[in-house]
Amino acid sequence: MSQFKVRAISSLHAEFSVPGDKSMSHRAAMIAGISNGNCLIRNFLPSEDCLNTLKAMGSLGVKYEVLEELEGYGPTTIRIHGRNGKLAAPSSPIDCGNSGTGMRLLAGLLSAQSFDSELFGDESLSSRPMNRIIIPLEKMGAKIEGKGEKPGCAPLHIHGRSLQPITYEMPVASAQVKSAVLLAGLFSEGKTTVIQPADTRDHTERMLAAFRVHTRREGNAISIHGGQIPEATDFHVPGDISSAAFWLVAAAAMPGSRLLIQDVGLNQTRTAIIGVLVRMGAKISDVVRSHQDGEPIGTVEVSGRGLTGTELLPAEIPNLIDEIPVIAVAAALAEGKTIIRNAKELRVKETDRITTVVKNLRLMGAEVEEFEDGMEIIGGKPLCGATLESYGDHRIAMAFAIAGLFAKGETIINNTACVNTSYPGFAKHLEAIIQHDTQPAAYQLKTIHHETPWA
Ligand code: S3P
Repeated sequence: MSQFKVRAISSLHAEFSVPGDKSMSHRAAMIAGISNGNCLIRNFLPSEDCLNTLKAMGSLGVKYEVLEELEGYGPTTIRIHGRNGKLAAPSSPIDCGNSGTGMRLLAGLLSAQSFDSELFGDESLSSRPMNRIIIPLEKMGAKIEGKGEKPGCAPLHIHGRSLQPITYEMPVASAQVKSAVLLAGLFSEGKTTVIQPADTRDHTERMLAAFRVHTRREGNAISIHGGQIPEATDFHVPGDISSAAFWLVAAAAMPGSRLLIQDVGLNQTRTAIIGVLVRMGAKISDVVRSHQDGEPIGTVEVSGRGLTGTELLPAEIPNLIDEIPVIAVAAALAEGKTIIRNAKELRVKETDRITTVVKNLRLMGAEVEEFEDGMEIIGGKPLCGATLESYGDHRIAMAFAIAGLFAKGETIINNTACVNTSYPGFAKHLEAIIQHDTQPAAYQLKTIHHETPWA
C-alpha cells in the first residue's frame, strides 16, 4: 500500500506551478467533445478523475489525439475533435471512477442524447447523492434510474430524451448541479434557468463563453438558451488553486518561508482560501497576470509567519469547500479558535470530510470539536506525528501530509495512491520539499531549499 512518510521542516522556499485545474479539465473534455470542430486543450490535468472523463467522451464517439504527456500519468496536451452536439451510444457502461464532477456533468450531457447510457463509479462515488441531479434532469424530461444499493445513488441508468427547459431553484449551492442543468439546457428547446442559493464556481459559464455559447447571469440566476453548439476553440487550463492550497497553507503557517506559485487559476469563485489565510494573518499577494480563455491566471506569493484563528463566513463556504481539510490543518497550527460551520456538504464529498478531518486532527493531538455542519478547532497546541489513514480521499491524504511538515516526529499517511485523483506529482513535490531537492520535478518545481529542524 502506498504511504507518505513526512517529517517536520523549518521553512519552505520554493517556486513552482501545480498541475492543471481539475474542474476546468473535466469541462474542457466535455465541451470540446460536443463542439463543432477541433480544439487544442493545453495543460489538461492528467489525473485519474479527468482521464476517466476523457475516456468517457472517447466511449461516446469523441476522437482525440494526445500531443504531450506527463510521463507516468497521462495526456497534458490533447486535440479533441468535437461531434457537433451529437454523441454516439457507448458500447458499455461508463466508468467515472471517484469523480462526482465527472458523473454529474456527464449525466447532464447524456440526458439529452438519443440513446440510453449507464454511469458507474467506485465505492465512494456509489454512495454519494445523485438525486440532486436526477431531480432537475427528470423535470426536464430525462429518465434516470439510480441503481445503487443506496437510494438515489450510482450506477445511474440514463434514458436520454429530448428535453424541456426548466427554471430550477437549487436546494444546495453546487456548481456540479448548476453545470449538469446548464449542459442539459444546451440541448433543450428554449431557456433553462438555474437559481443558486449562493455563488458557486463559474467555470462552466466562462468556458461556454470561450466556446461562444451565451449564458446570462441576473443576480443568482444563470440562464442558457438551448440549440447553441459550442464553437471549436483552443483552451489553456490554468494551474489548480485547490492543489496550490496545500502549499499556500504550509508556507503561510511556517515563519521565514517564501513560496511562489505560478500560472495558477485566480478565478474569484475559487480564491476564498487566500482571503481566509490573509484573515488568519498570512502575508499573501496574488497577481492576475492575464485572462486566458476567459479565466484569470497569475501568481500567488506567500511569506510565512504565524497564523491566528478565524471564523469562516457562510458565503465563503461553497468557494472553499475543497480547501476545508487543509484550512482545518491551518487552524490547528494557528493561535486561538477557528470556527467552521454551514459546511454540511463536506459530509457528502469523497469521504465524510468532517469525520475524517476530525479523526486525523485528534490523532495528531489537536483540540477539535465536531458539529453536524462543521467543527471548531482550538489551535496552537504542538502537533505530534501519528499514523493516519487517508480513507481513500485525495484531499485528506494531502492535507495531513502538510500537517506532518509541522509535527514533532514522523507522520505516516496510509493509502495515498488516491492523490492521483487530483494532483499527479504531489508525492514528488512533497519529497522535494522535505529533501530540499533542487532538481526540477514534475510541473516545473524550480528551486527548493530549507533547513531541517530536528536533524
Ligand atoms: C466541483 C464543484 C464542487 C467541488 C468539486 C468540483 C466542480 O462540488 O467540491 O471538487 O468541478 O464543479 P459541488 O459543486 O457539488 O459543491
